[in-house]
Amino acid sequence: MDRRDLETAVAWIRSAGTVTVLTGAGVSAESGVPTFRGSGGLWQGRRVEDVASPEAFAADPHAVWRFYDERRCRLATVQPNPAHEVLARWQDRFRRFTLVTQNVDGLHALARSRDVLELHGNIWRIRCVECGREREDRTAPLPELPPRCTACGGLERPGVVWFGEALPEGAARDAWRATETADVFLVAGTSAVVYPAAGLVEVAAARGARIVELNPEASALAHLAGVALRAPAGEALPAIDALLSGVPS
Ligand code: APR
Repeated sequence: MDRRDLETAVAWIRSAGTVTVLTGAGVSAESGVPTFRGSGGLWQGRRVEDVASPEAFAADPHAVWRFYDERRCRLATVQPNPAHEVLARWQDRFRRFTLVTQNVDGLHALARSRDVLELHGNIWRIRCVECGREREDRTAPLPELPPRCTACGGLERPGVVWFGEALPEGAARDAWRATETADVFLVAGTSAVVYPAAGLVEVAAARGARIVELNPEASALAHLAGVALRAPAGEALPAIDALLSGVPS
């Protein structure tokens, strides 16, 4: 991690009133959660449209549920890492702080972040495709695949946003608002290739926010970042936090 870039990022964040953060799978990588497109990623050797689309679910709900039940079992064993913990602490540090995530793993909330805007839903929520009833269920593995709605007996689906589906209206609206007014926009652990979420980085740039990218590799929108810290988020965020708190590092 370049020292000057780190100090620039700290200076920008320290003087910011409004900070908005967009996280992706990379932020959970150090908790042992595979990313999607990195080496060993979830989409390696698997066609996304076979497991993460309404069409795939309509064709074979059992196969789709096997994929999500495996992910839930794995996620049930992991804990937040220092990246999640620092972001949770920051919610009380700034006049306005907004945490937007593409992650469905619930690790930000587990680290005690409040009001996380989950653009792609949450893997621990389950929704009935008939009556629309939604519930939180952390059982892993699920006793029955596919699960059935206890209210109407209808088929239930994972509470995540699949390719081709709209983002949750409220979360999307609040995320765009928080991006349009951000002094500093932090992009952590995302390849920034999936829209509309990646569009937030472009909105931030268009609004003149100072963009800081945290990622060992350049994302697809790295050219919009004023500063990039090429390090794992679990190292970069504690380093920034330490300097913000005046702890020599
Ligand atoms: N710290 C920070 N970044 C990391 C780390 C780490 N420890 N490890 C990997 N990364 C970076 C990678 O370099 C990569 O740029 O995280 C990024 C992960 O990219 P993707 O796997 O594409 O994940 P993400 O950007 O979150 O995917 C977006 O795509 O598949 C859909 O709905 C799914 O929400 C997901 C969306």
